[in-house]
Amino acid sequence: MAIFEYAPAPESRDVVDLRSSYGLFVNGEFVEGSGKPFKTVNPATEETLAEVATATSDDVDRAVQAARKAFGVWSALPGSERAKYLFRIARIIQERARELAVLESLDNGKPIRESRDFDLPQVAAHFFYYAGWADKLEYAGFGMKPLGVAGQVIPWNFPLLMLAWKVAPALACGNTVVLKPAETTPLTALLFADICRQAELPPGVVNIVTGAGETGAAVVAHPDVDKVAFTGSTEVGRIIARTVAGTGKKLTLELGGKAANIVFEDAAIDQAVEGIVNGIFFNQGHVCCAGSRLLVQESIQDELLAALKRRVATLRVGDPLDKNTDVGAVNSAEQLAKIRRLSELGESEGAERWSPACELPERGFWFPPTLFTGVAQSHTIAREEVFGPVLSVLTFRTPAEAVEKANNTPYGLSAGVWTEKGSRILWMAERLRAGVVWANTFNKFDPASPFGGYKESGFGREGGLHGLEAYLDV
Ligand code: NAI
Ligand code: MG
Repeated sequence: MAIFEYAPAPESRDVVDLRSSYGLFVNGEFVEGSGKPFKTVNPATEETLAEVATATSDDVDRAVQAARKAFGVWSALPGSERAKYLFRIARIIQERARELAVLESLDNGKPIRESRDFDLPQVAAHFFYYAGWADKLEYAGFGMKPLGVAGQVIPWNFPLLMLAWKVAPALACGNTVVLKPAETTPLTALLFADICRQAELPPGVVNIVTGAGETGAAVVAHPDVDKVAFTGSTEVGRIIARTVAGTGKKLTLELGGKAANIVFEDAAIDQAVEGIVNGIFFNQGHVCCAGSRLLVQESIQDELLAALKRRVATLRVGDPLDKNTDVGAVNSAEQLAKIRRLSELGESEGAERWSPACELPERGFWFPPTLFTGVAQSHTIAREEVFGPVLSVLTFRTPAEAVEKANNTPYGLSAGVWTEKGSRILWMAERLRAGVVWANTFNKFDPASPFGGYKESGFGREGGLHGLEAYLDV
């Protein structure tokens, strides 16, 4: 096998103007928070990037009041006028894409190749897509009446992209928002606040409140919030569903996943290997729809695993800002501890662990690409979301067995099917209890295509025409 030596090709961080401290974005202004500020770190180096304000429930109340006041103005604008603001935001995102991508990689740890080539193009595409709907709501079939103030709580795995998924459809439909980014990745949301100012968005239409779970809980519980949208853990999703129950607030939840990536013996092996690698090592596996369970047909197990290990051994783990990097840093010490704990359980429960020889940086939070073979359905690593670069390999003999194993999970977000046979793809897709089924590909996204889950993966759809429904009074 050829071994390639790469010269480092780091992206410059000079394009980002980091401030030492950040406030909340309320009513079009940056204001101080009343809580104790927290630090956000670069997970690749453990360096503190900035101090960020904590919003207390009083601060959240001010943000909701600003959003309520702005709702009158914003919802009264013709859709074509709202569209102009959204198009303007989309264009500014494209103009400032490099700055946003570098900041995302600094705060989150994801490779610049991904933030530059996946996250940012998708973020801009979402704003363009929903800008296009703003003056065409009458054709979507969900009515034209916005809900009011949307309280949105997002996670740290795709900080700016999750913001786009939430903010773009809300604004297009005429709602205003109070958004809480995750406490380990607040910086691109605050840069987005600056973009809202640059786009001269009316004050109060977008408000950003930073802080940890308590701030999120205050947003969700606020009586003047009409709609709650959450992406994150199933555990917190349950708490939120309880808070919202009986209040009349509309709710969408996008929670965890344990997707099966199913490879049949007739699949193109090299293509499948790329899809498996993309499915589990993309974004360090911090992906709700990650293909974390590989189901391989028994007859090709040896061949496929040999090819997969060869490929995984070429993955470059390290500096997220290096353009050669494939796998960056794990987002936080807490997440690293969780990945370690579940991997140790994998071993003690009897699965066989494998990682390529790979040098990890000394500082920062790192975990090598890892495969577990000989995994049984009852093993914890086959059941719980690891949310890291850890793949569980199981086998099957018949299509029916593949379906049964794939569906044997409390989750139902996504699945992948690899086969040459079109009729088998359709047969499988009909039977898989998953919101998205990819065929001979994985992790493909488009703003026009709805995304969401079954069972404990949540409810409601984001993206596409369906994504409008969550923000309209149907
Ligand atoms: P989390 O669910 O605690 O955090 C997500 C967001 O919810 C953050 O903004 C957080 O501040 C906020 N939050 C926390 N408690 C809240 C509450 N009581 N009320 C309102 N908002 C609250 O997720 P965490 O702890 O960061 O990750 C734990 C696990 O969750 C991960 O290991 C992974 O398995 C899963 N996860 C799934 C995600 C997905 O995209 N489906 C995203 C992030 C985590
Ligand atoms: Mg951070």
